[in-house]
Amino acid sequence: TFLDDAEVVVSRLIIVSNRLPVSLDGDAERGFSLRQNVGGLATAIGPYHKVHRDCLWVGWSGIDLDKYDAEQIRSIREAYARRRCVPLFLAHDEVAGYYSGFSNDTLWPLFHDFSHEAVFEPSTWGMYQHVNRLFAQALEPLVHEGDTVWIQDYHLMLLPQMLRERFPRLPMGWFLHVPFPSPEIYRSLPWNRELLDGVLGADLIGFHTVDYARNFLSSVELLLHIRADDEGRIPMTTDRYATVDAFPIGIDYDLYKRTARSTLAKAMKRGIEEVSGKRPGRRYATSLTAESNAVAEAITKEGTWWSHYAHEELPELTLARSAAAEYKPNKVVVSVDRLDYTKGLPERLKAFGRMLEKYPEWTGHVTYYLLATPSRENVDTYRHLKEQVDQLVGQINGRFSLLSWTPIHYITRSLPIKPVCGIYAAGDVALVTPLRDGMNLVAKEYLACHDGRDGSLVLSDMCGAANELTEAFIVNPYDTEAMCEALHSALEISPAESRRRNIAMQARIKARTAAQWSATFLDALGQVTNEGLADRRLR
Ligand code: ADP
Ligand code: F6P
Repeated sequence: TFLDDAEVVVSRLIIVSNRLPVSLDGDAERGFSLRQNVGGLATAIGPYHKVHRDCLWVGWSGIDLDKYDAEQIRSIREAYARRRCVPLFLAHDEVAGYYSGFSNDTLWPLFHDFSHEAVFEPSTWGMYQHVNRLFAQALEPLVHEGDTVWIQDYHLMLLPQMLRERFPRLPMGWFLHVPFPSPEIYRSLPWNRELLDGVLGADLIGFHTVDYARNFLSSVELLLHIRADDEGRIPMTTDRYATVDAFPIGIDYDLYKRTARSTLAKAMKRGIEEVSGKRPGRRYATSLTAESNAVAEAITKEGTWWSHYAHEELPELTLARSAAAEYKPNKVVVSVDRLDYTKGLPERLKAFGRMLEKYPEWTGHVTYYLLATPSRENVDTYRHLKEQVDQLVGQINGRFSLLSWTPIHYITRSLPIKPVCGIYAAGDVALVTPLRDGMNLVAKEYLACHDGRDGSLVLSDMCGAANELTEAFIVNPYDTEAMCEALHSALEISPAESRRRNIAMQARIKARTAAQWSATFLDALGQVTNEGLADRRLR
């Protein structure tokens, strides 16, 4: 960019979010390294940041400042700088109040329609204001003439206005990665007006869906009495609008398609297929039949210790009968989530258990790979959820397991992209059933890993992705019986019909990738900031 005085300015994009795309691994002795973070934000913007050398990312380091000395902090900063990231360091009480408290115990539940879980606590609100201010202070010396700032998510709703006060002419966008609730829910937040005022400091305000954008506009009208025009433009000052629009987020389709075909992902897929008896199915079925026969024989010969259960149908006997009648190919069900109560894990597990109960012919023939990484463990609701999921998995496995078959393989580690793609690729069915979700990228990643192949998606109607992925088995995630039926149908669908559905959905995902999403948002930001503003000098 050339300014009037012919000074050459390198225009950069500065992304600002609570969490950086990478987190710290290792320690002072072994040295610090960085690993990719889990979550929609890192998945969606990480690739853009990686390839655009003019892009800087500012965010919380994710570590507890109190645990490191000055020398260690210096080497951590350097490790981040090599990835074009600027880490902010927060003290323990700042993290507790701003992140675990106001962001994840107030805004997260409220925005996901879990208002009964939302905690309204003035002290965490105070810390949220304080940390947003720390972000503004950290950004002040970093922002130069020609830069554009793009702020992400509900953690930083006050930051746009705080930056606007410092830089009246700075082109600035804000995007919300979660739903925006209806005005009736949003208005219950004691600090509702302050947050709206904060967000309106941005020139462009983006949401995943038209519905969330509409909820935001209605809240602005209800609480601030400002009405947008037909193009979603909210008049702020004589020469500035805040424009509101929908920008559905996507994934890097080719990356997932390619990664699913990598050697490691294929090995992972093969491993899952072997363990679940999908490959080679017949040998596994034979071994199960042998197991069932041995049990049946023991019962007949010896009148065993369980003979008093004789009135009940023993799964081993059912299995022996079904294996003899007709061979049924084994199937794999998969899911990949952060352990979050909005993801509907207990409800999903109940539906899986119900399916094994209602359709006992699946006994020994369907294995569920449940990848669920613990998240936000300092928040009570999340700890309780982990206990609940642990218990349900234990109950289902205890009740339905055979000697050589376990229905659910439960993995609570966070895995890198290659094994995750291996899991997706191995899944005949993916269960993506959040109770509420802004978009949900997992559904799209699963389909990309099944490019040109069959594989069924059971998808909640409570997430943004349901607007685009209409050929999936769409379910109400609170309806156990409907989910059980959808899962059964998804397992039974013919490969040809499954492929037909996938082709339609894959075409849509391919046309709206993560790269296109950021380009579209940034183009729109360029347009709204240029309109009517000849002089875009910073101060
Ligand atoms: P959210 O942003 O709420 O976590 P999304 O579905 O939009 O939900 O995005 C989740 C992202 O994190 C996806 O890219 C997914 O692959 C990744 N992810 C989620 N859980 C895991 C896990 N257990 N291990 C590895 N990656 C995960
Ligand atoms: O998608 C919403 C979001 O809060 C993202 O901002 C983040 O990537 C993801 O969930 C994971 O959350 P956290 O950073 O709290 O682990």
